[in-house]
Amino acid sequence: MKHVELTPVGNRMEVATGTRLLDGLLALKFELDMACGGKGLCATCHVRVRQGEDELSPRTPREERTLKFLAGADDSSRLACQCHVLGEGIVVELPEGVYVQSAEKLIGLIGERAEVDYLHPITGKILIGKSKIVTRTLLQLFVTMSEELRVLREQA
Ligand code: FES
Repeated sequence: MKHVELTPVGNRMEVATGTRLLDGLLALKFELDMACGGKGLCATCHVRVRQGEDELSPRTPREERTLKFLAGADDSSRLACQCHVLGEGIVVELPEGVYVQSAEKLIGLIGERAEVDYLHPITGKILIGKSKIVTRTLLQLFVTMSEELRVLREQA
C-alpha cells in the first residue's frame, strides 16, 4: 500500500501500489467529471503534483499532448487518469474550480454570482470567473464547448 496526501483538502488516501491516481480519488468520493471517460483527452482530472513526482508513473505521450492544450499547465501538471502511484511521499494538489460539461448545469444560477470558477472541460480555461454574475450571454460559451466535447468523446 502507498499513501498520497491531498491538498488543500487535507485528506490522505491509501492505495495499492500501481493504482491509478484517478481511481484513488474516485474511491474517496471526489466528484470528477471525466469528460473523456478516463482516456487522457480532457482536463477534468487535472491535478498538480507538489511532491514526489518521481513516485508516479511517467507521463504518457497522450498525456503530454493533452497537457499542451491545457491553460495554466506546468511541469507539476498530471492527468490523474494517466498516472499510477508507485511510491511514497506524493503530495497532490486538487485544482480549484468546477469543470462544466453543459450549460444546463448552470441555468439555475443565471443572475447569481458564481461561487467558484467554472472551467472548460478540455482546456481548463475559466469560462465564468468566481464572483462574476452568471448571464445567458456567458452560457453561450458552452455551446461551442459542447460541440468540442462531442468530438472528443468520438475520439475516445
Ligand atoms: S478523465 Fe479525461 S483526461 Fe483524465
